[in-house]
Amino acid sequence: MKTILVTGGAGFIGSHVVRYFVNKYPGYQIVNLDNLTYAGNLANLKDVEGKPNYEFIKGDIVDDKFILELFKKKAFDGIIHLAAESHVDRSISNPTAFVFTNIVGTVNLLNAARAIWKDNLEGKRFYHISTDEVYGSLGDEGYFVESTPYDPRSPYSASKASSDHLVRAYFHTFKMPVVLSNCSNNYGSYQFPEKLLPLFINNIKHNKPLPVYGAGDNIRDWLYVVDHASAIDLIFHNGIIGETYNIGGSNEWQNIRLIEKLCEIMDGKLGRPKGTSSKLITYVKDRPGHDMRYAIDSSKLQNELGWRPSVSFEEGLELTIDWYLANEEWLNNVTSGDYQKYYEEMYVKR
Ligand code: NAD
Ligand code: DAU
Repeated sequence: MKTILVTGGAGFIGSHVVRYFVNKYPGYQIVNLDNLTYAGNLANLKDVEGKPNYEFIKGDIVDDKFILELFKKKAFDGIIHLAAESHVDRSISNPTAFVFTNIVGTVNLLNAARAIWKDNLEGKRFYHISTDEVYGSLGDEGYFVESTPYDPRSPYSASKASSDHLVRAYFHTFKMPVVLSNCSNNYGSYQFPEKLLPLFINNIKHNKPLPVYGAGDNIRDWLYVVDHASAIDLIFHNGIIGETYNIGGSNEWQNIRLIEKLCEIMDGKLGRPKGTSSKLITYVKDRPGHDMRYAIDSSKLQNELGWRPSVSFEEGLELTIDWYLANEEWLNNVTSGDYQKYYEEMYVKR
């Protein structure tokens, strides 16, 4: 039996990764380590919490002593590291938190893995999940490939770039068996409503303004979160040690076009006359240092490991909108902070 540590498993992508692994690999023990920040929510994992191959541990990756003790106790065979501060706007208002969690937290995990694995590296794997934002901002042409030079431009992407460099440095210096991936914008269920799609779905529902940054002409490449989880599964098992794989949906949308499409679908779902939701569009001051365009070339992952996204954007967007409309209680809980009580009831009081 393999014991796999997933960090940040109570967050958006982490909860999909935990669900994917717990269901697909009943022979693995999946340990979810999460500090339950504002973005971590155990209600994201209600459907797996009773499974015998799943365990949740509350803890902070910045706490080096705690992390080392945990690694000694559990002797993990593999680590899939997703825990991070993930929101660009928050990194602009509070960069320091990003340095601690994203950089120091990653080094703590690398050190603990080194300490317990020593030279016995057979079958071990440290998988670092990163972002396309480390490559900077594209103009009208071209794509990010794995060899694109790093050019991070926000405190968030600078902290992720730094952690990527450290992971590679541990591979070269200490022979740490690492793999990395850099993914484009994910969308789907359980995403905290500070990010574009869940925020705008929620605002449209409540007739609140839709704050479009700048001219709305920035471009993002959107991937359905379950397709990210399937790529993570492939890379974790079949990726070559020391290599990096780009993951993306080949699905570029200018923000304003995506928002108009969302408004149109929402009008239909909410039974409102055409054009109602788009009246909520409000242009606001741009995000400082706002990257213009991200676009991923995922041909290495497709050609070498055979990955393909399985959900079309039409289908994924429909599934996502339906999920947020059907899960109003989840949205209300995460926005009010009530979900913290769930942890108390589930894990502290019993
Ligand atoms: P998220 O903000 O939804 O979740 C992050 C999780 O990490 C939360 O559960 C939080 O409680 C936990 N966490 C934060 N600080 C911690 C700490 N100090 N100790 C333990 N746990 C802590 O983030 P997400 O969008 O799911 O992103 C997950 C990972 O994927 C991140 O590394 C991010 O950089 C990367 N990524 C995200 C996207 C995207 O579109 N969301 C795209 C590419 C890569
Ligand atoms: O590319 C991968 C990255 O995608 C991940 O590494 C990050 O963790 C994730 O947050 C995401 O970053 P973005 O900054 O692209 O995502 P966000 O949802 O914040 O914004 C998407 C686009 O929409 C971006 O161009 C900014 C714009 N935007 C966002 C918000 C929240 C608005 O115009 N208005 C808004 O209110």
